[in-house]
Amino acid sequence: MSAALSRTETLSLLSLSGACVGILANTFHGDGEPLFASLAFSGIAFAISYSLIRWLGDAFMRAGLKGRDMSKKHQVEIPETMGAVCAVVYLLVIIVFIPFPFYKDIVAATSGGGNRDLVLQVQEVETGRFLHRFPHSKLASYLSAILSLQVVVLLGIGDDLFDIRWRHKVLIPAFASIPMLIVYFVDFGITKIVVPVPLRAYLGELFDLGWLYYAYMAAIAIFCPNCINILAGINGIEVSQSIVIALLILLNDALYLSPFTPYPHPATDSHLFSVYLLLPFIGVSLALWCHNWYPAKVFVGDTYCYFAGMVFAVVGILGHFSKTLLLLFVPQIFNFVYSAPQLFHLVPCPRHRLPRFNARTGLLEASTAQFKKPLRRPIAEAMKVLHRLRLLRVETNEAGEVVESSNFTLLNLWLVWFGPKREDRLAMEILAMQLVCGLLGLFVRHRLALWIFTQDNL
Ligand code: UD1
Ligand code: MG
Repeated sequence: MSAALSRTETLSLLSLSGACVGILANTFHGDGEPLFASLAFSGIAFAISYSLIRWLGDAFMRAGLKGRDMSKKHQVEIPETMGAVCAVVYLLVIIVFIPFPFYKDIVAATSGGGNRDLVLQVQEVETGRFLHRFPHSKLASYLSAILSLQVVVLLGIGDDLFDIRWRHKVLIPAFASIPMLIVYFVDFGITKIVVPVPLRAYLGELFDLGWLYYAYMAAIAIFCPNCINILAGINGIEVSQSIVIALLILLNDALYLSPFTPYPHPATDSHLFSVYLLLPFIGVSLALWCHNWYPAKVFVGDTYCYFAGMVFAVVGILGHFSKTLLLLFVPQIFNFVYSAPQLFHLVPCPRHRLPRFNARTGLLEASTAQFKKPLRRPIAEAMKVLHRLRLLRVETNEAGEVVESSNFTLLNLWLVWFGPKREDRLAMEILAMQLVCGLLGLFVRHRLALWIFTQDNL
């Protein structure tokens, strides 16, 4: 990969940045429109990440942050951990963005030397101001989101540098979730869930989960980052799946904003919050995508996977739609559950489970794990049942012992089902499936849910 940007690239990035700076300057006039500012910042974030990924590639290689692309004829080494660049650009951008949704509020509420206070009627003070843009209390959420993301990025970079063991890194995001859980506790504190109609006779209309609800949210913060990291191994899949999830959440957010829902709606601010965090995320991710899609010129590294998953966990938890969020993670949840036998070492798990590249055909095939020692009886039998259900491919020896099986990942299962494929073809099919699942999830959430709940919160 050439480190220098081509002339066309430079011109395009410069004009994009120019346009975005123009929009930003414009948001200072009139009322200021944080949504446009957020869009402009996302464009700038894209341009900066795109250039930095190019410029820093060699420096990363020299620092030893590189990986071998195992699914190519010529396994060249390319820079790894480039997602860390995106994560840092993202953090800086959402920090610079802070004044935009808030500065009008600050002017209205503080007594500055310039004496720009608005004189508020007593009644207004007591009932709370009608904050057109972004309620002040959201600042706490926003800052805790930044803090949580920072922690996860820090620990992710640690993992990329030192390859922390799996059982330790599962817990990384749990620490990162503490700041936002505490803000949730102080700010929102709702631990009740709406009970589906058929169960109301036993549990009542609302059921209080208490501290279990916090355990559940911490579990989401652990799950989202890790599940993206293990649905990995072919060019572009980590970034693309994250972009698809981000777009699906944005679609869900849009349903709560005008023109779809009359303003003000109780959930408007939560969903604006989510939009402000997701737009720049999509900006930096697209820049990474351009370099990581087949044939990859850089790898994203674990930092990106943790960071992306944490962005989703943060918007889901602080935006109060963590259950909807899970509907958008169906392929990842499947992959996680399906991987469990290998993750928990019921079945031996090789260091890499990515599909196997067949150099003769140039196609990817399901990779396998070989078992030198015979597996325990119940496990071997269960695997044979999975084989018969076409949920696994198992090889047995003359004695009927299981000696080999395809690795327990969604990517390998897809190859077992549909046969060998080119790497980019496999990625596109998985993404298409993910998109269909996500759209179905949203449909279920907003339409079919009416059958078991009395109302949709739209
Ligand atoms: C996770 C998976 C592992 C999978 C790996 C691939 C689990 C428990 N772990 O491990 O099975 O093999 O991701 O990312 O499911 N690579 C490629 N092509 C790609 C992407 C990665 O060859 O398109 C290779 C490169 O050599 C790269 C390495 O994978 O250096 C990165 O692996 P890493 O992200 O460190 O693996 P884990 O996240 O630990
Ligand atoms: Mg990884």
